[in-house]
Formats: sequence, structure tokens, C-alpha cells
Amino acid sequence: MRKNEQKDVIAVLDFGSQYSHLIVRRIRELGVYAELLPPEVKAETLLHYKGVVLSGGPQNLSESTALKADPKVYTLGVPVLGICYGMQLMSHQLGGKVKAGKRREYGPARVSLASRTEATRNKNPRSTAELTTGHGTEQTRKNIPSVLFGGLSRNELIWMSHGDRVTKVPNGFVVIGKTANCPVAAMENASRKLYGIQFHPEVNHTEHGMKIIKNFLKLTGAKKSWNLGKSWIEKEAAKIREKVVSGRALCALSGGVDSTVAAYLVHRAIGKQLTCMYVDTGLMRQGETKQIKQIFSKLPKLDFRIVNAEREFLAALKGITEPEKKRKTIGELFIRIFEREARKLPVTSYQLPLPVKFLVQGTLYTDAVESSLSVGGKAAVIKSHHNVGGLPTNMKFTLIEPLHELYKDEVRKLGRALGVPEEIISRQPFPGPGLAVRVIGEVTKEKLDTLRAAEAIFQEELIAGGEAKKIQQYFTVLPDIRSVGVQGDTRTYGHPIILRAVTTPDLMTADWARIPYELLAKISARITNEVAGVNRVAYDVTSKPPGTVEWE
Ligand code: XMP
Repeated sequence: MRKNEQKDVIAVLDFGSQYSHLIVRRIRELGVYAELLPPEVKAETLLHYKGVVLSGGPQNLSESTALKADPKVYTLGVPVLGICYGMQLMSHQLGGKVKAGKRREYGPARVSLASRTEATRNKNPRSTAELTTGHGTEQTRKNIPSVLFGGLSRNELIWMSHGDRVTKVPNGFVVIGKTANCPVAAMENASRKLYGIQFHPEVNHTEHGMKIIKNFLKLTGAKKSWNLGKSWIEKEAAKIREKVVSGRALCALSGGVDSTVAAYLVHRAIGKQLTCMYVDTGLMRQGETKQIKQIFSKLPKLDFRIVNAEREFLAALKGITEPEKKRKTIGELFIRIFEREARKLPVTSYQLPLPVKFLVQGTLYTDAVESSLSVGGKAAVIKSHHNVGGLPTNMKFTLIEPLHELYKDEVRKLGRALGVPEEIISRQPFPGPGLAVRVIGEVTKEKLDTLRAAEAIFQEELIAGGEAKKIQQYFTVLPDIRSVGVQGDTRTYGHPIILRAVTTPDLMTADWARIPYELLAKISARITNEVAGVNRVAYDVTSKPPGTVEWE
């Protein structure tokens, strides 16, 4: 199962929580490598891991379909931390009791963390009732908290999100935390290194969540080996060299942070054996092609090429209105153009008379995991992201995906270490199919020009108003409708422009950004005045879910 060569790895078993990736990222932020694995993975697979985290999940243990961990996970001898559903599952599988709560608890809460004095008063308390009544052997009073909560105060601000709750801890466990609504908010069996917490240490709202994760990592003894610095870069570069040998690779540049960082890394590895090709699809943002050209022309010994394919893309998209068909058409055409352009490359370029065999892509960990490891492997296809789902199956390239184990924030860190210019690193995400998924309905050059002009104004004003840095992604959408307006005493029948701006930790969930009214008014006035054919501006106030970030 384990493909990476990291020595000290933490496994996070994914029971389907929206926070599962966040747990992995938090562990990596602390310098320890972690990876997401399917929930029902066999314990034997986990033998070489230093610790296991059971994530939260949306399920209910009373249902027969509830996902379970292999029970042998608890006897591996390595520390196991159950979070939310993970703790309920641990309790259920080891003989404790879990009941449906009378009401859902969602949001901030305060947890009282029991010190060892309380925990050891009763040698083997089975329930909170026993714990609080204090039956059992009185022991020396030492005010030591659970190792999991080392460095925390007795009363902590945490984030809860659950319906079910543990009502009786398994034999050998003690309760180490409770809230007003949740008598067992944390439990442990320290001798077996098994820990459970009902709340979410991975979210920022849990004030000292990172300390809890750090304490857990200390218990695992995992060494910090994850830093994405020089040694990581050298190791990865060596792997790429080993794969490509004396062959040639082609990198599909989109101008976004992922493909640019991938290109820099592969360039570091194989230098002149790499050709970077930027296909100007005509679906790019204003000024994008110029910027890419400036940046890549500066890299030494790089074969950099721009292919102007605007006409081809617009012709292929003619008459297509269905979003998935647009995405697939663009994905397919991309690859066909690469194949064609690769064949056209002079075989003697850089004295390397070899055909291009490898295609470099900036696929991230989330892209790869989402297409293969989602809970039960049954996640619905919401959109075909073209660097994964939209690739034609009969492609003639072998893929090189040097970022396949990284998250977006890690890619940015790596990019900085590789010297990628900051303007690219701090760039907003941009969908592979470009502006085609922001022009609703049929894509035409006129509509694209309208959209670009409106977006440039939106961006300019958000930056000038100091709002841009608070918003992770913003853009404009051109819907396929028109409406009546009046401009300069004349009736107009023009297009509306939708403004979309979201704040989001990871783009998997998002909230619409609260842009001040005054700024929205200014943006609206400028767009209707300056962009021909636009007579109305609307602001999208939909979160994800139920919406997605992009409109198509
Ligand atoms: P959605 O619209 O699915 O978007 O909420 C989440 C994030 O992904 C970006 N996005 C894409 N990125 N290829 C990409 O590389 C694509 O086909 C694609 N579609 C959406 C979107 O801009 C947002 O940041």
C-alpha cells in the first residue's frame, strides 16, 4: 500500500469527514509525514506506520452500513487517536457504548480536562458516573493531565460537530475530558496508547488543537522528516532523472501555481531535456499569456514554447452548452495538441534526437486521492477536473506527476524553495478549462472578451480596496441570459455579470466573501460603465455546499 519512502509515517483512516484532509495537513505542518488511507484498510498494511488516526465521519454507528476499522488496528501497539466518529468507533469496537445524542452539538464548546488525579482516583472507571462519584481506590494526588493534553489548561475552547456520543468507555479506558453536553468528550487507555477525542483538534476553532496533535505525534515517536526543502527537492529530482533517463519530457503549463512548480522541479531534475509548452487556448485571463512568457523566458536552458490554439478551441467548443461536455472537449483537445506539437519538436533540439515520451502534470494529492480513495470509492463525480478525470484513456504519454503527494499549501512552500516568482505562488486557483466554465452556455470570443474586461475591473477594485488578500478566490461569470436596462436615457438589452468571491480553507467547502457594500457599488458602477454590453451586476451569495465555487 505504501508507495512513498518516508520512514516515519502517520496513517489517517478516512471515515468521510470533511476534515480528513485537514488532519493530514496539520500533521504535515508539524513536520511529520501523514497520508490518507481507506477506512477499512487491513491492519497488516499499517505495520510500518508510527501511529494511526481514525477520522470523523458522517455515519451513525447504529446503522449496519457504518464503516468500521479493522479491529486489529487497536492491537498494532502504535498510538491510535480516534477523532469524533473515530472515537465513537474505537469505543464501540472495544466494548464501550455509543448512543444517539438527544440533540446535535455543533459549534464552540468548553471542555474540562480531567487531570490524572481524577483519572486515577478510580483504578478502572467504566463511566463518567463512576468517574465523577469517585468510587475506587484513592491514589496519590498528582496534578498531571493526560499526556495528550500536556501544556493545555484545565478548561479549553474546542469545536464540536456530532450527534452520537460515547456513554460508556470500554474497559481499561478513563474519561479525560467532558463538556456540558458531552460527558465523555475525551478518553484514553494510556497503557495501550489508545486515545479518543469527541471534538476536532484539526480545525482552527479548537484553540490549542495543534498542541493536542503535537502531543499525539510525540507519543508516536515519529521523527520530523517532512520539510520540502533542499533534501526533498534533491531526492525527487533524482527520482525524475531515474525515470526519464536520457528521454525527453513535455510539461503542460497552465500558468497556475501547480504546473509552474512542477515545471521548475522537473527542470531542476532534467534541465534541457524538458520542453515547457503553454497552450494559449484563448480561455485565459487578461494579461496571462504575457506574464507566463516573461517568467519562463528567464529560466536558463529551458525549451519554452507558446502554442496559439485559440481558434482551434473556439471551433471545438462551438455549439456546446453542457458543462461536462465542455470540460471533456477541452481536456481531449489539450492532449491532442500536445501530442501533435510534441511530434513537431525538432528532433535535434539540444542535440537530443529522442521522441517525447513523458508528460509532466501538476496533479496534487487531493486530485489523486479524490479520484481513487474517497470513502468506499463511491464519491459522485461532480466535475471532471481535466488534469485527472478529463484525460483521454488512449493518451500516448507516460505521466510524471511530481506533486502527487503534496497539498496546495505545500506546493507553495516548495515553489518558494525552488525560486518560483511570488506573483505565481500567490496566484488564485484557476480551473483547467479556463474561462470556458465561466461563460455559461456557448463560448464565443465576444463573451470571453466581456468576461475578461469585467474580471480585470473586479480584481483591480478588490486589490485597491484592500479586500483581495482576505479572499481566496474571486472571478466573474457571464450567464447565458440578457435583461432590460436603461443607460443614458436609452433602453438596453444586455448581459448581466455575476461577481463570485469566496473565503475557504481548502476549496472543498467555501463561504461567500462579505465584501463591503460600498466596494460592491463601485465595482458595479465601473463594470456597467466600462464594459460594453453589460447593463447589470449581481453578487453570488451562495456557499459551497450547496453551490460549487465555479458555476460549471
Ligand atoms: P469547484 O467549482 O469544484 O472548484 O467548487 C473547486 C476549486 O477547483 C477549481 N477547479 C478546477 N481546477 N481543473 C482545475 O485544475 C478544473 O477542471 C477545475 N474546475 C474547478 C476551482 O476554480 C476552485 O478553485
